[in-house]
Amino acid sequence: MVKVTVPATSANMGSGYDSIGIALDLYNTITFEESDRIDISDVSGADIPKDENNLIYQCAKKVYDICGKSLSGLKIVEDCAIPQTRGLGSSSACTVAGILGANALLGGPLDEQNVLDLAASIEGHPDNSTPAILGGFCVALLEYGKVWSVRVPMNGKVDFITFIPNFELSTEKARGVLPKTVAHHDAVFNLSRAALLAGSLTTGKLENLGVAVGDCLHQPYRFDLIPNGRDVVHAAKAMGALGAFISGAGPSIIAIVDAHDKTYLSRAQMYCQQNFPAWTPICLHCDETGARAEII
Ligand code: HSE
Repeated sequence: MVKVTVPATSANMGSGYDSIGIALDLYNTITFEESDRIDISDVSGADIPKDENNLIYQCAKKVYDICGKSLSGLKIVEDCAIPQTRGLGSSSACTVAGILGANALLGGPLDEQNVLDLAASIEGHPDNSTPAILGGFCVALLEYGKVWSVRVPMNGKVDFITFIPNFELSTEKARGVLPKTVAHHDAVFNLSRAALLAGSLTTGKLENLGVAVGDCLHQPYRFDLIPNGRDVVHAAKAMGALGAFISGAGPSIIAIVDAHDKTYLSRAQMYCQQNFPAWTPICLHCDETGARAEII
């Protein structure tokens, strides 16, 4: 049997639209066994697709197809802690899990670059799939089916206070509201900040983060789809966050907080209970390991 563990991810981090992402310590854990039929279940009893429409199964089957191996079925058991459709990389985690599970069952025909390329090609968002695979803070892009990426070392101790709302927002809808073209000065606004973000996290120059996560390419449009999203970002900063942004395509909001601020989470929880009860803040950290597959 193979057990695969994949972290949540937060793509974009404000300025790094479609190019920057970070792995977070919230995990989907999936076990795989070859079988003569498709047998898919979820430990929580959640209502998930249990046939060939299951994303994890589809990604596993893709690996068998690529490797020229036939697949009669799989027994898949899902234990998913990453909330779906909240901008925390749940579909990316399922894609990566299917690929790594099948690859491990087949004895590892795909190398790490193959896995990066396949995951991004299926999922479409290398800024999610790459940190899910490598862990840490990553810069990634997909060009002609190949992922060009770097895992950038981070300096400075920060918490990622993640405000998760009780409503969903599909990536498709959140991309649908973006303009087809942007002004040159808007492009410059973001690329300068994305570069500053990568450099600031690498060197630990955390006082830059408030400016470095600034964005005008996607968030201004997406906030209209996230009730109280602007208010939560505003409150997160007012409570002392170094910077705050929409996680991925939303609707979750992430505040980067100095880890020495031990009361930030409880202050945020109380503030949300009183003012924005639809939102629940939790404290996450950067996952340094990335996805892993073990034979158990
Ligand atoms: N960079 C992508 C977006 C992430 O913001 O649409 C989608 O998960």
